[in-house]
Amino acid sequence: MALWGGRFSAGSSSMFRQVNDSLPFDQVMAAQDMQGSIVWSRALHKAGVLSEQEQQQLEDALTRLQRQAEAGELDFAASTEEDIHSFVEAALIDELGDVGRKLHTGRSRNDQVATDFRLWVREHTDSLKQDLYQLIRALLNTANRHQEAIIPGYTHLQRAQPIMFAHWCLAYVEMFKRDISRLEDLQKRLNQCPLGSGALAGTTYPVDRDDIAQQLGFDSPCLNSLDAVSDRDFVLELLFTASTSMMHISRMAEDLIFYNSGEAGFLQLGDTVTSGSSLMPQKKNPDALELMRGKCGRVFGALQALLVTMKGLPLAYNKDMQEDKEGAIDTVNQWHCCLCIATEVLDSLSLNETRCREAAAQGYANATELADYLVEKGIPFRTGHDIAGKVVLAALEQSCPIEDMPLADLQAICDKFDDDVYPVLQLEYGVNKRNILGGTSAKTVIQALYQELENLDKQ
Ligand code: ARG
Repeated sequence: MALWGGRFSAGSSSMFRQVNDSLPFDQVMAAQDMQGSIVWSRALHKAGVLSEQEQQQLEDALTRLQRQAEAGELDFAASTEEDIHSFVEAALIDELGDVGRKLHTGRSRNDQVATDFRLWVREHTDSLKQDLYQLIRALLNTANRHQEAIIPGYTHLQRAQPIMFAHWCLAYVEMFKRDISRLEDLQKRLNQCPLGSGALAGTTYPVDRDDIAQQLGFDSPCLNSLDAVSDRDFVLELLFTASTSMMHISRMAEDLIFYNSGEAGFLQLGDTVTSGSSLMPQKKNPDALELMRGKCGRVFGALQALLVTMKGLPLAYNKDMQEDKEGAIDTVNQWHCCLCIATEVLDSLSLNETRCREAAAQGYANATELADYLVEKGIPFRTGHDIAGKVVLAALEQSCPIEDMPLADLQAICDKFDDDVYPVLQLEYGVNKRNILGGTSAKTVIQALYQELENLDKQ
């Protein structure tokens, strides 16, 4: 039975119920709803609304419901209740009669749902942080397994300069660290408690809002009742953080799909995270990576959808806001799965270090070294750049790498070239010369790797 039937003489149409009811999805907040109700019953007792015995009855019944919810014993599918709040209240009334009917005194589903959803988001941001840490650990382990490996670094998908493979891993570590800090940052703003704001104007009962906030683990109560019931910034921030992180995952996936391609051949993915073709027996497709890339669509869509939903809403609560949940629930699920599968992909991959090295040595990726060499010989960089370009052109004509060009040919382009140019053109030379904070030299990369491993152990 609806919570609000008194004023109505006809029941809802079944199509209206289909559009209006949120129990099919907001049941995920069952635990939070019960937790909030326990604290509300205590607040009502302290405010003199419920006797000690009534409060105790409610708390006991809610605790039993919590246990049933945890054990998966609550039959949401068979329920005709509108949403999780009505479901819990109906269960209490079923069990306790009039005592159950007292729980909603001074409370609205508007402050209730805002509180429940904050609690739900808070819990999930905590576990998503752990997923991100796990992915960071997988990146660091992958870097550790291939400490010596050099791969081509790209700009415009053209071989640009050689880099340590570990440097590539650590670039993604930086991105996922920022995602963690974004989660921590949103947790600060999220952690204010709407309960006690009533439908929109505050409650008439003298409940202690500081105490309510504290019991639910919030830092403080929300300061304005109108804002408290109609604010969904915390969901938007979650969706933005998820979108940004999914974008990072997707870029990593894109790199790995390319590295795994027959053309690059830098690495192989494990059988556990790839699939075959129903027609072409030779295929081993990077499906896990493609799905990480593909699932960005729905996550970015959820962010866009909620922004659009919120943008025209007058204060305070409007039912449009019930649309905040499905996208957020799906986003949290997808983000969680993608973080976990990304971890599995990294754990499964094996790098073909020889092939990586060959590729890094090709494509004239040492041309910058040549320009820098000329700088050391006293030539301005812009001139050196031009000369190095001419060398590349000559090498292309001879179809050979720069380091295979005879000295006489180099000197014909610039008389500053000498025998000492050849060591400069070696692969390791270019890499290790970037021995600067944030650079790709083997030494700085290993230092950074150990630093990150140490940071992670402190978590
Ligand atoms: N199921 C609703 C939601 O998720 C709960 C709030 C309903 N409040 C109301 N006044 N109709 O937003």
